[in-house]
Amino acid sequence: MANTIPDIPLNDGNTIPQLGFGVFQIEPKDTVEAVGRALEIGYRHIDTAEMYGNEAEVGEAVRTSGLDRGEVFVTSKLNNAFHRPEDARRAFESTLAALKMDYIDLFLIHWPLPTLYDGDFVSTWKTLEEFQRDGRAKSIGVSNFQVPHLERLAAEADVVPAVNQIEVHPYFGNEEVRGYDRRHNIITQAWSPIAQGKVLDDPTVVDVAEEVGRTPAQVVLRWHVQRGDIVFPKSITPQRIAENFQIFDFALDDAAMERISGLDRGEAGRQGPNPDEFDYVPA
Ligand SMILES: NC(=O)c1ccc[n+]([C@@H]2O[C@H](COP(=O)([O-])OP(=O)(O)OC[C@H]3O[C@@H](n4cnc5c(N)ncnc54)[C@H](OP(=O)(O)O)[C@@H]3O)[C@@H](O)[C@H]2O)c1
Repeated sequence: MANTIPDIPLNDGNTIPQLGFGVFQIEPKDTVEAVGRALEIGYRHIDTAEMYGNEAEVGEAVRTSGLDRGEVFVTSKLNNAFHRPEDARRAFESTLAALKMDYIDLFLIHWPLPTLYDGDFVSTWKTLEEFQRDGRAKSIGVSNFQVPHLERLAAEADVVPAVNQIEVHPYFGNEEVRGYDRRHNIITQAWSPIAQGKVLDDPTVVDVAEEVGRTPAQVVLRWHVQRGDIVFPKSITPQRIAENFQIFDFALDDAAMERISGLDRGEAGRQGPNPDEFDYVPA
């Protein structure tokens, strides 16, 4: 079975590689090397954000990889400080300038921040619609949007987000939001897909890994892609970057899928902030 990365169709006609490489918490000084290695191994999708502070290094790694710009799918996200339309326009230009790219494949609202900006993420979203109309963002989407936030966009905006990037891993299935996404043709991107390593020594995960002769990280990533979600595990460790890429040359049977899904702890399994309350704005 060849290790071929599927392209997932988005609701706007574009496609996105189902497996990417995440760069949250990679220091700028380590980013060119880590992203360069990922591209060398075969990753063609990089997930960054203005708040990660490493967009410039992601851009540099893509430029020096020898690949054409069109061969690499690049995502970035709007910093929480810049939700007002004028600020969002400036921030988007800074993102393109940092990446040294004249378009981005996917641009997201990083957090809904429902307790800030008078609860208005709709005018922010309409500003992203402008970026898509003028061609500088091929696709646009949201991140950390809960069902009521998505319902509000559906009622008040024109464009349905192409993706919703949310926390999902075996301890936090996030099924309500995934269900909404699925019913409305929004692709779910699962962030912290291995819960930053916390699910890897779970006895069930270890057991399934032994059964199929793969590593715990590979079976957890495989579980995500068989559920249809997009993943972009982060690692600065060369052997893990390679390991996380080898997830399309084996399959989990229904019983293994169910055992891993059975680890869901509901809200108690959430590792990151709750989007209904999160109000961090960088100084
Ligand atoms: N939209 C959002 O709000 C949001 C929030 C969080 C994350 N994200 C995105 O999702 C991406 C992934 O999430 P994440 O970075 O939080 O966590 P993650 O990918 O679930 O886990 C990364 C951690 O696991 C370790 N690791 C990676 N592969 C491993 C393997 N094969 N075996 C053992 N350990 C392994 C890494 O260590 P080493 O690096 O030391 O190898 C790192 O400590 C981010 O980089 C970012 O792009 C988005």
